[in-house]
Amino acid sequence: PSRVTLRTIRKKYESGEPLSMVTAYDYPSAVHVDAAGIDILLVGDSVAMVVHGHDTTLPISLDDMIAHCKAAARGARRAFLVGDLPFGCYETDPRDAVRSAVRVLKEGGMDAVKLEGGSPARVEAARAIVETGVAVMGHVGLTPQSVSVIGGFRPQAQVADEALRVLDQAMALQAAGCFALVLECIPGPIAAAITRCLTIPTIGIGAGGQCSGQVLVYHDLLGMMSHPHHAKVTPKFCKQYARVGDIIGEALQAYRRDVEERAFPGPRFSPYSISEPEVRSLA
Ligand code: KIV
Ligand code: NA
Repeated sequence: PSRVTLRTIRKKYESGEPLSMVTAYDYPSAVHVDAAGIDILLVGDSVAMVVHGHDTTLPISLDDMIAHCKAAARGARRAFLVGDLPFGCYETDPRDAVRSAVRVLKEGGMDAVKLEGGSPARVEAARAIVETGVAVMGHVGLTPQSVSVIGGFRPQAQVADEALRVLDQAMALQAAGCFALVLECIPGPIAAAITRCLTIPTIGIGAGGQCSGQVLVYHDLLGMMSHPHHAKVTPKFCKQYARVGDIIGEALQAYRRDVEERAFPGPRFSPYSISEPEVRSLA
């Protein structure tokens, strides 16, 4: 299968075909996402929460993100690869942003980077990265790296002036050269209006059905954490397409029972033989 490139993404967008995007953080998840024919594979900083077990995306380092990018890139042959710039590696100075973005491409093997926010400083960072020759996906609405100032993972743009601010940010990021924008946790009609105003694709998450594409987190859509203790991590806008966590739990319990009852390995999974004379010669 030929690789998805920015041209492929552009063609789909222009012909009104929805774009699919899913996160992946390692080799097996990337193989799954790629084999399913998903257009865009995002090595998201959500890895901090769903893989590393943190409560927010803030603690993940650029080095750790790059390690996840490398593993995911080895599993993907077709999908367009986007790596998140993590909190703290691009905000202070456009030169920092460029340096981080270049590492995500050169070391991580990604095709593009994603950064959060649409303030003038973030727009400058996006512009500097694009000018360096690295494609940038923007991300507005709920930007989880700003959870400290937002005061939690809460929907955004639910009043008119906030909605206009998100639109302004989206327009500025487009003008800076972003090839697409994630719209996270904003009302569907606002996401639809932003999508109509832009000439680049929007990828929605918790943003209704009128975006140019949709994105979900791998572990959330697969129902990986259906264990009650972890149920808090599946957001209400996420459709669970499976309950993989239940299947994993059942398999692990069946294995434990087999071990406890000596039902495993049994003759069927004890493949290595030694002849009787050899055994006797040991004694
Ligand atoms: O890190 C992530 O998973 C993301 C998506 C939710 C867009 O940024
Ligand atoms: Na992210």
